[in-house]
Amino acid sequence: MTHFLDIHTTDAADLRAMIDSARAMKTARNNRPKGTPDDDQPLAGRMVALIFEKPSTRTRISFDVGVRQMGGQTMVLSGADMQLGHGETIADTARVLSRYVDLIMIRTFEEATLQEMAEYASVPVINGLTNRTHPCQIMADVMTFEEHRGPIAGKKVVWSGDGNNVCASWLHAAGQFGFDFTFTGPEPLDPERVWIDFARAHGSDVKITRNPEEAVAGADLVIADTWVSMHDPQSARERRHNQLRGYQVNEALMARAKPDALFMHCLPAHRDDEVTSAVMDGPHSVIWDEAENRLHAQKAVLRWCLGV
Ligand code: CP
Ligand code: NVA
Repeated sequence: MTHFLDIHTTDAADLRAMIDSARAMKTARNNRPKGTPDDDQPLAGRMVALIFEKPSTRTRISFDVGVRQMGGQTMVLSGADMQLGHGETIADTARVLSRYVDLIMIRTFEEATLQEMAEYASVPVINGLTNRTHPCQIMADVMTFEEHRGPIAGKKVVWSGDGNNVCASWLHAAGQFGFDFTFTGPEPLDPERVWIDFARAHGSDVKITRNPEEAVAGADLVIADTWVSMHDPQSARERRHNQLRGYQVNEALMARAKPDALFMHCLPAHRDDEVTSAVMDGPHSVIWDEAENRLHAQKAVLRWCLGV
């Protein structure tokens, strides 16, 4: 079964092929007159279940649109409205869903839920975000970087803030796509050691520094994400803001990166917390391309999972 669970557990050559396929599909689609029907319908006759146990704008809409553009159909399901939210096991849900649909995309809390779904499903499962990782996002992000600046291999990518799920998938990508990665943030919010070790073992020069100005020197790409993720308790909010205030990405910080450095944020953003509006709307920012590329990158992931 070809699941897409994480970047570090997917073959590097397959990841590269997916990025290239996403770019080719994007070019073909965006170059044709608006309103022209898609002639490439590799998902015709396929049904995809999109399960959300957390809120979503981009993941939900980009998967839904992507499947439809390729001729497939979708069901967008809220975990809370399924028996899943009322005590039915993940394993039983996976077995039942596999009798109805051709692929399951799930956004959930615990990584164990995703893994159990993948273990018991007899159709491919895609990770649409867990507390621990967000691989579809970083496929779109790598694609976005390469569209603007060419191959990401050998570049310097800097993360400023919380070493969260999105940061984890960036570390996986650093190992798989061969770029260097610097994390800057307070020590209690460092990314997991196991992800740092993965990236280093695959040749990435991973640096950790408490000094954001030092971190961004020579950066090709600077990234921010929310200071409080969906799985974090709201009670952590004030402490997080105090811990992370010094790691805001603003114009002064961007000015210390390379002059042509890009800025990314997976969104949703909290304007003027982790990043200023001046940076989000400024010349370094590629956040709208990044959001669009969720669609194209995930279409490539869907095709890879289904072998079509
Ligand atoms: N970036 C991202 O995954 O956005 P959503 O939470 O809106 O899906
Ligand atoms: N780190 C964020 C990403 C949202 C797309 C969260 O998990 O809430």
